[in-house]
Amino acid sequence: MTIKEVQALILWYQKNKRDLPWRTTSDPYKIWISEIMLQQTRVEAVKNYYQNFIQQLPTIEDLAKVKEDTLLKLWEGLGYYTRARNLKKCAIEVKNLGLKTLPSEEKELKKLPGIGDYTSGAILSIAYHKCTPAIDGNVIRILSRIYEEERDWNQKQVKEEYTHLLKTFMTEENARDFTEGFIELGAIVCIPNGLPHCAICPFAKVCKSYQENKMLEFPKKKEKKKRKVVHVTVFIFTKDGKYYIEKRTQKGLLHGLYEFYSLEKNMTEKEIKEYLNLKKIPYTKIQFIDTFHHLFTHLEWEMKAYVITTSKDNKNFYSKQELESKFSLPTAFRKILKHLK
Ligand code: ADE
Repeated sequence: MTIKEVQALILWYQKNKRDLPWRTTSDPYKIWISEIMLQQTRVEAVKNYYQNFIQQLPTIEDLAKVKEDTLLKLWEGLGYYTRARNLKKCAIEVKNLGLKTLPSEEKELKKLPGIGDYTSGAILSIAYHKCTPAIDGNVIRILSRIYEEERDWNQKQVKEEYTHLLKTFMTEENARDFTEGFIELGAIVCIPNGLPHCAICPFAKVCKSYQENKMLEFPKKKEKKKRKVVHVTVFIFTKDGKYYIEKRTQKGLLHGLYEFYSLEKNMTEKEIKEYLNLKKIPYTKIQFIDTFHHLFTHLEWEMKAYVITTSKDNKNFYSKQELESKFSLPTAFRKILKHLK
């Protein structure tokens, strides 16, 4: 790669970039929110979440003050909820440091929760026009193909080498478009699934894998570990057309979000009855709905859902409509909620 291709990339980006809501701002706070949302979520899905989030919490001070439940509601459906919690932690730290917004120094930025090499590179280059590359999956794919890179990107040295290389092409003038240009090229030309559109790529002439028609061999794939399957029995207690939910107190996965009562084991209807009797929970009917699946990064839930009609009194019963609009119910449970009346 030479400065010639990099300039061509930037021109290509300026002409072809998608109209995305975070591309009309230089506010480091807004850039940061968009980058955190985009880390594990598709652009199309992020658009609405981003706009709603910024509307509700327009400044970092608003984020520092937000109630946990409100924050999780804004994040509901995006998954990886640690990201949302870290955002708030970060906003509080920024406030405690006496700053009005995120720091513009790499060393300071990386001390904050949830901000690593990629996010700090993105914030610094996009919002502060600094020569700090941001290497995400898109950039890894492009570089791997250009150079037929065989090594594992998890090796620190590999990322460092490319960070150094990219830096040599960055200037204060091009920093923002450089970072976004690479990301955009990875999203719409050097695509992850299917044949890349090499004929229109600014790097076509210098791309080793294109010359040898080996684009699909890069980046080198690591062996994927199989997800562990966790069996979950979901008890949907119902009374007068309302459903029971509670806050998840267990540390770890989905902590602090709402859920239907559930146990991490596979249970037969007989075992469910025994359990209800043991816990002295009155019931008149048990109805199996279906088996639902939900994938997390490292595991898969296989959920068997039962609606259990009960006469037990409790304030935690809500209508389907209330559950949809008022609570941060994770996607795994929303899949079940859709099937309820
Ligand atoms: N993915 C990660 N960062 C992005 C950005 N700024 N624009 C579009 N997609 C992205």
